[in-house]
Amino acid sequence: MTMFSESLRAFLKPVVGLLDDNDVSEILINGPKEIWVERRGRLSRTEVTFTEDGLLAAARNMAQYVGRPLNDEHPRLDARLPDGSRIHVVLPPVARRGTTISIRKFFAERLTVQKLVELGTVTPRVARLLEAMVGLRLNIVVSGGTGSGKTSLLNVLSSFIAPDERILTIEDSAELQLQQPHLVSFESRPADRLGKGEVDIGHLLHSALRLRPDRIIVGEVRGGECFYLLQAMNTGHGGTLTTAHANTPVDTLRRLESLCLLSGVDMPLRAVRAQVASAVHLVVCCERFSDGTRKITHISEVLPLDEKGEYRTQDLLSFTTTAREKDGRVVGHFTGSGVLPTFFARFAANAFTDVDASFFQKRSASEAEPAPSPKLETPIPGSPARADAEAASRLSPLPKPVRIAQVQPRPPAEPQREQPRAAAIAPDPRPAAKPGLLPRPRPVDEALRPAPALAARAPVATPRPPLARKPAPVAGAESSIELDPDLQAEVERRLPNESTLITRNPLHDARPLDEDTQPGTRRR
Ligand SMILES: Nc1ncnc2c1ncn2[C@@H]1O[C@H](COP(=O)(O)OP(=O)(O)OP(=O)(O)O)[C@@H](O)[C@H]1O
Ligand SMILES: [Mg+2]
Repeated sequence: MTMFSESLRAFLKPVVGLLDDNDVSEILINGPKEIWVERRGRLSRTEVTFTEDGLLAAARNMAQYVGRPLNDEHPRLDARLPDGSRIHVVLPPVARRGTTISIRKFFAERLTVQKLVELGTVTPRVARLLEAMVGLRLNIVVSGGTGSGKTSLLNVLSSFIAPDERILTIEDSAELQLQQPHLVSFESRPADRLGKGEVDIGHLLHSALRLRPDRIIVGEVRGGECFYLLQAMNTGHGGTLTTAHANTPVDTLRRLESLCLLSGVDMPLRAVRAQVASAVHLVVCCERFSDGTRKITHISEVLPLDEKGEYRTQDLLSFTTTAREKDGRVVGHFTGSGVLPTFFARFAANAFTDVDASFFQKRSASEAEPAPSPKLETPIPGSPARADAEAASRLSPLPKPVRIAQVQPRPPAEPQREQPRAAAIAPDPRPAAKPGLLPRPRPVDEALRPAPALAARAPVATPRPPLARKPAPVAGAESSIELDPDLQAEVERRLPNESTLITRNPLHDARPLDEDTQPGTRRR
């Protein structure tokens, strides 16, 4: 351990136990008295506290280690700790509740594809499909919200790259852990105290393109460099992988478009869109679910713009949530959309012969490959199991038996009804696709040409969301904004899948109610 690590550990003494706890993936310090941790994807508040001065000293120590300013003039800091953990610091008064720090821990044991399967992020078949897609050198953008597992998935996708390829990685904060032998890694650098010496992702991309890359992997695009990255993708640097913050496939393309506009290159919007649509072949969306799991929710192919210049994407695979376990676990399955990708023929041509039409077949929950749903240590707040546990812990001791009165025996607890689980469903026997069920694969060279109009393809069936259960009428809910806590608990117990109860505000009675705010209706 270096001297710096030792001194930093001394400054971070209150949270050293959390730093050493392998179950903790993230430490979130919201001022000296409020510290949260993420364990197995879920947040919980801890008892530990700092003194204001102690926390500030720890933040300053981190800044000193990376040689960057952290003061009134520069109250924000992005850095990495000696062990590779990613930190971000914001000082007061910008951080209104005191020095705010997030520490995303770095795990030497990286997430492998097997681990992603165990965690329920993908199934073996989805993993195989992704492997084949990386093998085809498609340009892939992994998208999702903060902490949805984009970088971890990018790491896993990168592990599918053949060992004989020369890989160039460019990151703001080195998080990728590639194992291939021919690897060149770049990390951007902010300006020093004098505002000099900055090397950003754009500069590194410029260098990367001159270093004969077989693959370029950019940790995240978040600025004008996006335009140059798309140019690279469009000019023969196939197989580029990156991540972006966005929620849906089309949102991802829009995000890339806005980033391109930041580059300052003067180009008509339609031309920028055409660049985006032709550069990106696939968007893979990740999402963090309420039970703390991360899942791939969409693998979508990007099609050429429509005649109005709008983006078109085609879901090849998506995750459908079908139920929720009593403890709050999300249960669902992956299904194809019944449409083959335009590059389908290239799988066989590139020796991925096992990736056949059945991968893209539409499947119901009973036909789908079971997606693992790892057990939760503690039920999720608001879930029926959690409500039961909390109710049990609230039970006051039974009153002393009264001799005269007949004490009614407690009714036996109702057996907990098991909700249907995808994992309980018979495993998918991988039936071969029936001939004629899916459109015929297009030949390899044809697949590289612009895709035909949507109408010419197989019908795109949008998976219907499961029908929402109608909430039971709640007495008094219409006339009050806040429910009595017991009643609220009862409502939550009966309607475990819903999160927010929207009741009518009597003050706004005169206003016509729109669909979303009807009394008793709920919004997710
Ligand atoms: N598939 C997964 N299942 C469970 N946890 C995961 C999974 N992938 C990542 N995580 C955990 O989620 C946290 C965030 O992961 P990651 O850094 O990959 O997210 P991100 O989307 O890149 O976040 P950011 O937007 O902040 O860069 C990490 O602590 C990681 O250990
Ligand atoms: Mg990331």
